[in-house]
Amino acid sequence: MNDYAQKLYLSDLLREPVIRAAIRKLQLPSGSRGLDAGCGIGSHTLLLADAVAPDGHVTGLDLSAGFLAHAREIANKSGHSERISFQQGNVEKLPFGDDTFDWAWSVDCVGLIPAKPISLLKEVARVVKPGGILAILLWSSQQLLPGYPLLEARLNATFPGIAPFVEGMNPELHFLSALGWFHKAGLNESTAHTFAGSVHSPLGDDIRKAVMSLIEMRWGDPRSEITRDDWAQYQRLCRPDSRDFILNRPDYYAFFTYSMFHGKVASVGALKA
Ligand SMILES: C[S@@+](CC[C@H](N)C(=O)[O-])C[C@H]1O[C@@H](n2cnc3c(N)ncnc32)[C@H](O)[C@@H]1O
Repeated sequence: MNDYAQKLYLSDLLREPVIRAAIRKLQLPSGSRGLDAGCGIGSHTLLLADAVAPDGHVTGLDLSAGFLAHAREIANKSGHSERISFQQGNVEKLPFGDDTFDWAWSVDCVGLIPAKPISLLKEVARVVKPGGILAILLWSSQQLLPGYPLLEARLNATFPGIAPFVEGMNPELHFLSALGWFHKAGLNESTAHTFAGSVHSPLGDDIRKAVMSLIEMRWGDPRSEITRDDWAQYQRLCRPDSRDFILNRPDYYAFFTYSMFHGKVASVGALKA
């Protein structure tokens, strides 16, 4: 597995309960057919296939052939492979006809392609039958450094912390404005929910690795964007070889949130209007 695929795999250890809660909220009909757009290594494709069992089907779509190879391998081992298929493609121009699916879902993909969110939502809605659900989920916050809210706020203000949003960008393109996108894309009954996941000490080895990987994913190397003092404190708290490594604290607690925006697809005619 390449480095990013490994990070997705580790983050699933933290995300799975949150993603399952979001799927439950949607009440996807048993036996329905859905699309996981930007499925990565397919972990959520499997959870979605569980939700529409025993007769439903989920197609995972991604740009990356490498991720799809992992996704197929994981699905084959899961025993769900008959009810899942994977296809390489671009969410901006989906390789499916109008009204192919009963619903579509996307985690950290559709909402994170900042250029033209409304046309992107319309493209995903195009392949969903009228009345079907379109849901996008986005990682929306984290508190990983208990006791250091100022340092954490400054880390969150660095480029990796706010990406793909950048300073000066139209606020309507920030993903927490997605209800506006849903409205403009002609989706009905649009709404949003936020789901929280948390961990606390004692951390098992896998969860520990997952939180370390998460810290790396959220903030990376922010040296050029923070002060020397903040960099020193970040190293002190977040390096596993540091005496003060924060995950070693017996009272360590952290949480994160995913926000889900969803609505119902109108008729194709209404979307094209
Ligand atoms: C942050 S990962 C999320 C993967 C998966 N949904 C998850 O949560 O584990 C974003 C995924 O979107 C895919 N992606 C990015 N742009 C895409 C596009 N235009 N069309 C299809 N997939 C895309 C990437 O290859 C990657 O797998």
